[in-house]
Amino acid sequence: MKAQELLYQGKAKSAYLTDDPDLLVLAFRDDTSAFDGEIIEQLDAKGAINNQFNAFIMGALEAAGIETHFEKQLSKTDSLVKRLDMIPVECVVRNKAAGSLVRRLGVEEGLSFDPPLFELFLKNDALHDPMITEHHVAAFGWATDEEMAEMHRLSLAVNAVLAPLFADAGLTLVDFKLEFGRFHGRIVLGDEFSPDGCRLWDTATGEKKDKDRFRQKLGGVMEAYREVAERLGVVIDA
Ligand code: TMP
Repeated sequence: MKAQELLYQGKAKSAYLTDDPDLLVLAFRDDTSAFDGEIIEQLDAKGAINNQFNAFIMGALEAAGIETHFEKQLSKTDSLVKRLDMIPVECVVRNKAAGSLVRRLGVEEGLSFDPPLFELFLKNDALHDPMITEHHVAAFGWATDEEMAEMHRLSLAVNAVLAPLFADAGLTLVDFKLEFGRFHGRIVLGDEFSPDGCRLWDTATGEKKDKDRFRQKLGGVMEAYREVAERLGVVIDA
């Protein structure tokens, strides 16, 4: 399947149309943004690492019965995916407190949630992805109540699959963000799962192994991403 016209250019990925109206080519770029696109830098081989890491994670989710848009890896940086009608709502699952939650509610970083905490944000950089509730989703018609319930169910199902997978690799899945879309009437997981959109802490040392290294200027960003992949047994061709 060959990439044709550019359909959409996001902050870290570009989506291209293909011959098949149901399929897109997703090209992972090295661009790395923080603070809703305020800071953008190129990190060497990030596109390749995230594409290949995402392929592994999406495969693990499919194997657990969670439908994703992922079809197949096409190259180091590109994957073939289903074309979804994206819902502009970011679903966040938190096993521990970090990031905006700590700032918003003044709780201590690392506070555990059992069961996990589920939050919603509007995907809108200009508004800095404001927090919303399912009532906003219904009032503005971003998704039906049934679709929202399915996104909630699937988000927790993703956590139930991935938290143990990372735990086995000595990594704590602190939180993550998912985006869903519609595909022929079904709610399907889209976007990506990579250290760009989740928090991973070394369980033994607490060291951050995700995009917080970039946001907080801690250095060693790509080294951390590579280490995460390696610990999960993902061989990166970059
Ligand atoms: P937050 O602590 O900034 O609300 O983010 C929670 C998790 O979701 C964290 O792993 C980062 C991820 N996330 C994104 O990747 N993009 C976003 O736009 C938002 C709001 C969160």
